[in-house]
Amino acid sequence: MIFDNVLKCVGNTPCLALKLGKNLIHAKAEFMNPSGSVKDRVAARIIDLAINDGSLRPGMCIAEASSGNMGISLAMAGAACGYDVTIYMCETASVERRNIMRMLGANVILTPAHQSVGGAVEALRVDAASDPNLFLVNQFGNKENILAHYNGTGKEIWEDTGGNIDCFINGIGSGGTMMGVGTYLRERNPDIRLIAVEPKGAASLLGHKPKLHSIEGIGDGFLPDIVKPEYIDAIQEISDAQAIEYARKLARDKGIFIGMSAGANLAAAEIVMNEHPDWRIATILPDRAERYFSTQLFAGQPNIVSKGRTAA
Ligand SMILES: Cc1ncc(COP(=O)(O)O)c(C=O)c1O
Repeated sequence: MIFDNVLKCVGNTPCLALKLGKNLIHAKAEFMNPSGSVKDRVAARIIDLAINDGSLRPGMCIAEASSGNMGISLAMAGAACGYDVTIYMCETASVERRNIMRMLGANVILTPAHQSVGGAVEALRVDAASDPNLFLVNQFGNKENILAHYNGTGKEIWEDTGGNIDCFINGIGSGGTMMGVGTYLRERNPDIRLIAVEPKGAASLLGHKPKLHSIEGIGDGFLPDIVKPEYIDAIQEISDAQAIEYARKLARDKGIFIGMSAGANLAAAEIVMNEHPDWRIATILPDRAERYFSTQLFAGQPNIVSKGRTAA
């Protein structure tokens, strides 16, 4: 197939059947999207609709607060469609993400670590009040975020698995994936359970306060407007160590190179599978490991041996 714009390559990702221990889990390989994450679906839909309905006009600047991947997807979409992009992000987001955005031509504004993603949202709100040239994406409140997953990810998972699903498990960042996929699946089978994955001790759905953690992309420290907690049947907390363990395990055992939130989803899936061995579980692998070279995911990797090195 030949495409005339990178945004047309978004979606229709492969679904992997992964054997974890005795259990088989279906995992949607969202890292196969063109900029490398699940957020390409949301950026492509929002920018495409906004150009078509005239709310994004030539000369405007696309602006968003993001923990990273949405920023990268918007930077890609802006470059592909000829718009400037400015991304507000927490200074704890990995340096790889910042650099990818800059390489794609976006401006990056960093906000303080202790304010989590909420600080980036607030800084953008303040700037937007005096700048009518900004096109605000607002992934945390934009229903198109949900619809990108309702019409795309959810429909694809249903078709990939032939509807043979008892439970969908996924981490909550903006909540768009969980709400969109969950709504699509439940409309077809109201008995499907939805289980949210949250960082241990930083679960907004359990009323926890924001806390620094390593599972980038989820647990942003507040409950986004588009999330309906009553939709969710259960919450599975996952520690940084568990998320990292599963991300490493998938690389070593399966050759699949995923980020920490994908590791968290798989860790949660295995816990749920062990409690309910008869459930057929689907989950998401939101992004790839290259985005995290500078983080704990790569710390202390033991399998490098130096022989005959000449440089210090
Ligand atoms: C790596 C990663 N995992 C998970 C998510 C959560 O997806 P959602 O925002 O749809 O809840 C995101 C969102 O940015 C992400 O970047």
